[in-house]
Parts: sequence; C-alpha cells; structure tokens
Amino acid sequence: MQPWIIKLDADQNVFYLYADSTRLTPEVDPFARQQMITQGTFLEYVRVAGLKFGYKTDIELFPAGEYDEHNLIDSMNNRPVAKITIAKTEPQDNALYDFIFTPDTNRAAYRKTEPTVKQIADLQAANTFKNISLQFYQDKNNLDKLSAYAMAGAKIESGVHRISAESANVFRANEYQKNKYRYGFSVEGQGTTGIMKPVLQGLVTLMPSLNGEKSSAALFVRSTQAEVDNTPVYAMIVTADNSRILQVESGMLYSRLVLTAHAQGFVQQPLSQVLEEYPEMAEQYNQVHADYAPGNGTIQMFYRMGQPTKPFPLSMRRDVTDLIK
Ligand SMILES: Cc1cc2nc3c(=O)[nH]c(=O)nc-3n(C[C@H](O)[C@H](O)[C@H](O)COP(=O)(O)O)c2cc1C
Repeated sequence: MQPWIIKLDADQNVFYLYADSTRLTPEVDPFARQQMITQGTFLEYVRVAGLKFGYKTDIELFPAGEYDEHNLIDSMNNRPVAKITIAKTEPQDNALYDFIFTPDTNRAAYRKTEPTVKQIADLQAANTFKNISLQFYQDKNNLDKLSAYAMAGAKIESGVHRISAESANVFRANEYQKNKYRYGFSVEGQGTTGIMKPVLQGLVTLMPSLNGEKSSAALFVRSTQAEVDNTPVYAMIVTADNSRILQVESGMLYSRLVLTAHAQGFVQQPLSQVLEEYPEMAEQYNQVHADYAPGNGTIQMFYRMGQPTKPFPLSMRRDVTDLIK
C-alpha cells in the first residue's frame, strides 16, 4: 500500500513522516500493526540513503506523542510517526545502499545452503534495538513446526472472503492499471517474468474469473507449500511489548535485515498470516505466540530466508513526489 506521507518543515533540515490513514487494510491488519512496521521500513531506507549521500539522520519517533488508540485515524492524521532531522556529514561508502533498489521479497524456492555462524552473527549485529529480539531457526524440528504454521496461516487466510476481497481490490491486472495506481499486487508478485508476464496479464484482464477467489486461494496455498518446502532458515522479530514504537522499530530492523541479507547473497520473504489479529486466525496466533514468544512478547515479523534459486522482478512504487504533502 506504500502508506507514507511526508510533510516538509519550514526548517529545511527537518521533515515528518505520517502514516497514511487512507491506505489501511483493516481486514488483514485490524490494529494497523503492519501499517506501523511499514513506517519503519521507510525510515530505515531514509537512514541508509542519508549515509550514502552524506546526511546523518536523527530519527525521533512519535515526537508529538504516541497515538490515542481510541481515535486512531485522527491520531494518524495529526501525529507524525517520526521527525527526521538531517545534518551534513561526509558521504560514506555504504554496502547496503544498492540493495534498496532490488526487490525486498523473493517468493521462489530457496537453496538448501544454510548461513554460516558468522553470517548469522552479522545479521544479529544489525539488531541494535532495545526490547527487540531476533531468532533464527535452522533445526529440523523448528523448520517443520514453522512450516506447519505458515501452511495453516495460508489455508485460513485464503478461506476468509472479506480478506480475499480486500486484496482483490488492489490487484493490478495489467500495465495500464499498474501505471495508474503504482501500488498493490500484480503478476510480478509470484515471480512472473519474460513472455509469461504479458500472457498472464492478457488472460486475467480478459477473463478476470481466472484470478477469482477460488483460484487465487488455491494458488496461494500451493505457492506457500512450495515456499516452505524450500526454506533452510526461518526467523522471527519479537518485541517485549506491542507498543507503536516497537512496531515501527521492528520495521526498521526488518529492512536492515533485508539489506544485510541481500549483501550476503540471501533473500527473504515474510509469512505474516499467523501473526494477523482477525478472529479466524486467533487460535494459530495464540499457539505461535505461546511457542515462540512466551512471556507476553509479540512476534512482529516471521520470515523465511535462503539463497535464491531465481531473481525476482521489481514491483510497483509510488512516485516520491506523490508522498509529499
Ligand atoms: C509488515 C509487512 C508484512 C509483509 N507480509 C508479507 C507476506 O505475508 N507475504 C509476502 O509474500 N510478503 C510480505 N511482505 C512483503 C511485501 O509484500 C513486499 O516485499 C513489499 O511490498 C516490497 O515489495 P518488493 O518485495 O517487490 O520490493 C510484507 C511486508 C511488510 C512490511
């Protein structure tokens, strides 16, 4: 959804990030938790780009106070997620910067190759946040258990009509729609490239029923099975509580991990379904939290990681000037 609004300040070294309340996905993200993680992903890319171009970025979260949860939309519209203050420094050669321009998510099969102890330690070192823990799971017992959670999540989610409708609403069947909206889902999301891309786009444009609820549900379950069958490592970002600040920081950490993993030759894919807070998912949500975040922690991100078997195509991005209000 790319739900970001930038407001420039009279001080040209300052700008504010707001969450765009018109871009919520209330069915799949009823508490706007993922909306907050997404704010963090933006902030981390700002930080990394700043280093590259010689700007130190001081990021203050919720400078006007945290949201009033009883007036969430109003709060989003009036209280910035972050105040960003930039200061000129020397540009730094930054190995992570180039990976901002590669796709964040790779939904293909991954090779069996496991990361080395040093690579895991480097990923752990990216976690500079207090009250956030990062765990990697590579043993058979946890791989089986976490694959089962991912599958259960995919099966439940694909059977919930109102969620399928929410997603179908932002599906862009062809280049015309992609250029018109520049956000949402498209055939690239399943890795479709080459000649197959216009063929598939033509088919779903002319016969939308091919991409109807039943076939999309079956495709989602089938692809999730192929994903979990080809995953050497799962990881989780767990926060001590579920505050808005820790949600945003989880997003900053997730983006830092994406960039660090890409620099190591690994790719990632979140598997968010079992972490979602709608009633049909409650049982899986509670079980996965009891298993992997005992003691009141919240799993903010659950993702797979591995070496790619094929590159993934770029997806849509909004024009940066459209974000500035
Ligand atoms: C909070 C959050 C949850 C996500 N959940 C999923 C998910 O469940 N499955 C998935 O394939 N991608 C998931 N993604 C990844 C995004 O769909 C995607 O990577 C992002 O829009 C960037 O697009 P790109 O990967 O094409 O660069 C998630 C991303 C975020 C920030």
